[in-house]
Amino acid sequence: MTYLTVYTDGEQPETLLETEDSTEIAATLKEIDVVLRHWAVAEDLAKDAGQDEILAAYRTEVERVIAEEGYTFVDVAQLHPDDSPDWPERATAARQKFLNEHTHDDDEVRYFVSGSGIFYLHVNGKVHAVLCEAGDLLSVPRNTTHWFDMGTEPDFTAIRFFHDDDGWIGDFTGDPIARRIPDFDTIAAGRAARN
Ligand SMILES: [Fe+2]
Repeated sequence: MTYLTVYTDGEQPETLLETEDSTEIAATLKEIDVVLRHWAVAEDLAKDAGQDEILAAYRTEVERVIAEEGYTFVDVAQLHPDDSPDWPERATAARQKFLNEHTHDDDEVRYFVSGSGIFYLHVNGKVHAVLCEAGDLLSVPRNTTHWFDMGTEPDFTAIRFFHDDDGWIGDFTGDPIARRIPDFDTIAAGRAARN
């Protein structure tokens, strides 16, 4: 289930909204041209399913999005904790890659097959922290200022849609705002405490 928190973007961010209400979330995101949709989760998908199996399980939905939005490249990104000695290092490196505020000239469209992650959308003096979970399809328009936090223990599988086979190159703003807005671990823990 999606969880949205909206903050002011000043030096001491204040929380303006916290909600799990899907109608309220969709309406709030629509104001900033971000579209959130939901697909039925493919329950019969094995936990260790690879890219081909995952894309096959969502073939109809994926093809519909491609037809509607003209994406030319689709892949699956996944990261799950394991016992290997290099896991902490890999987890930190993967998290760090998307943790600074940036823009790019392609849309950022992600469908969460499993796990979770937070997209932070910095628009109109507010930061919209969208915690996505299995079944959520988030479409962030190109050039939206944003960052992504997968948490200190990344655990997710996501289908990604691109207009360019080469992917995108982030244009980093240099604004350290991500340091003063609550991170994935903090928001996820706060939500768990509330429920
Ligand atoms: Fe991005």
